[in-house]
Amino acid sequence: MKQNVIAIDGPAGAGKSTVAKMVAEKLGFVYIDTGAMYRAVTCRALAEGIELTNHAAISELAGRINVRFNRDEAGLQVLADGDDVTEAIRTPEVTAAVPLVSQVAAVRQAMVRLQQEMAATGAVVLDGRDIGSVVVPDACAKIFLTASVAERARRRWQEMKQKGYEQDLVALQQEIEQRDRQDQERELAPLIQAEDAVLLDTTGMPIEAVVSGIVTIYQTRCGHV
Ligand code: DC
Repeated sequence: MKQNVIAIDGPAGAGKSTVAKMVAEKLGFVYIDTGAMYRAVTCRALAEGIELTNHAAISELAGRINVRFNRDEAGLQVLADGDDVTEAIRTPEVTAAVPLVSQVAAVRQAMVRLQQEMAATGAVVLDGRDIGSVVVPDACAKIFLTASVAERARRRWQEMKQKGYEQDLVALQQEIEQRDRQDQERELAPLIQAEDAVLLDTTGMPIEAVVSGIVTIYQTRCGHV
């Protein structure tokens, strides 16, 4: 059992990254946003003009790209081969393309290896789709975070609006439903609730309650009460 590792999985828009960041802050842990890593590979593939159906070229990219996080007063920066891609990985273009890139085996292998290296130190919170099932199956605390599709669409709409992107709510909900299907039905590391994960449905829950709920699960499961 890996002590001091919290694995948070769940569908798009469930609030994983916001919650994981807050849990990490509360416990003095490091936050690892694994979705950002798949986004960084996608962003680089688009910038290099690689066809998203060209798995050989994407695999070659996965073998040479170096994705890292940089933490300073300004927050969490995502670096792809040293370039700051923090903003660039959040565009609708990257969001639309990332499911294609994240299902390439070589991409998953490369990212999982990096994630396992980062988690090896302990005192980490990771969020993603396959953290409890593939990346750190022996994490002492596993959470499956979800919320209704309507609520997730509303949250994503608000988040994008704050970033200056006006999106249609109905279209966003359809997009989320499609991403759920893509995440759940893909062959490699599909989104599933690990057997020993605690299911947390956050529909209508204030964020502070979600965070303190996860801290309690951590304390109970990881023997820190
Ligand atoms: O959580 P997010 O929206 O930033 O994730 C971006 C994409 O990466 C999404 O299509 C799911 C995929 N992903 C994955 O396959 N495995 C992970 N551990 C994290 C994200």
